[in-house]
Amino acid sequence: ILEDDDGVGDWSAKYVVKRINEFKPTKDRYFVLGLPTGGTPLKMYKALIQHYKAGKVSFKYVKTFNMDEYVGLPRDHPESYHHYMFNSFFKHIDIAPGNVNILDGNAPDLAQECLDYEQKIEEAGGIELFIGGIGPDGHIAFNEPGSSLVSKTRVKTLNQETILANARFFGGDMNLVPKQALTVGVGTVMAAKEVMVLITGAHKALALSKAIEEGINHMWTVSALQQHPRTIMVCDEPATLEL
Ligand code: GLP
Repeated sequence: ILEDDDGVGDWSAKYVVKRINEFKPTKDRYFVLGLPTGGTPLKMYKALIQHYKAGKVSFKYVKTFNMDEYVGLPRDHPESYHHYMFNSFFKHIDIAPGNVNILDGNAPDLAQECLDYEQKIEEAGGIELFIGGIGPDGHIAFNEPGSSLVSKTRVKTLNQETILANARFFGGDMNLVPKQALTVGVGTVMAAKEVMVLITGAHKALALSKAIEEGINHMWTVSALQQHPRTIMVCDEPATLEL
């Protein structure tokens, strides 16, 4: 528990740097990192860029897999997760574009795209550290309430609450938010060797309490992480209001 969202950004970035450096990645042994989008991780990305610029970490031998992407949004749309990731992070660090993996929400065969993504994660040796955020309804990636807790990467229809929560990125207009997304499954996240979830703000307090103080429940998909052997929840004070 950190005091505020600045603290969460700093702490999580330092943790990522520590894990990459301990791993000592080489061209024969990449560090595989799972990455989130949304408002919450922006401060972590900023801090990571600073650590990179200060020479404290390199992403040369890091491969990334993003959690999710909207269906049907052009790749260069300012709110696509492709655009978000390159703009907020990748273009500022030394990662090779070929080591970046983001689901293609415009693929001609979306089901195949999801199967291929799981295959790519497997071929990369699995995810070492999966970083995630959650929605106020406790969804991790886009695993909406009711998702199977063993789900893999697939197409998901977004619920009203998620569309409402993300409308702020689309000028406040719910009609502009895509209705579907591609997302890694809860099972995909659970298969990572380690998971770190960033949770900030009082509007996430109920979700955090459901995640860690109540039973595992597919209506609060983040709660599945109770069964993961290595999970860290990094939160600020306001997010702990319901604990
Ligand atoms: C979206 C994303 C999630 C993210 C969530 C929270 O639903 N698919 O991966 O965790 O938003 O976003 P924010 O950090 O903006 O609250």
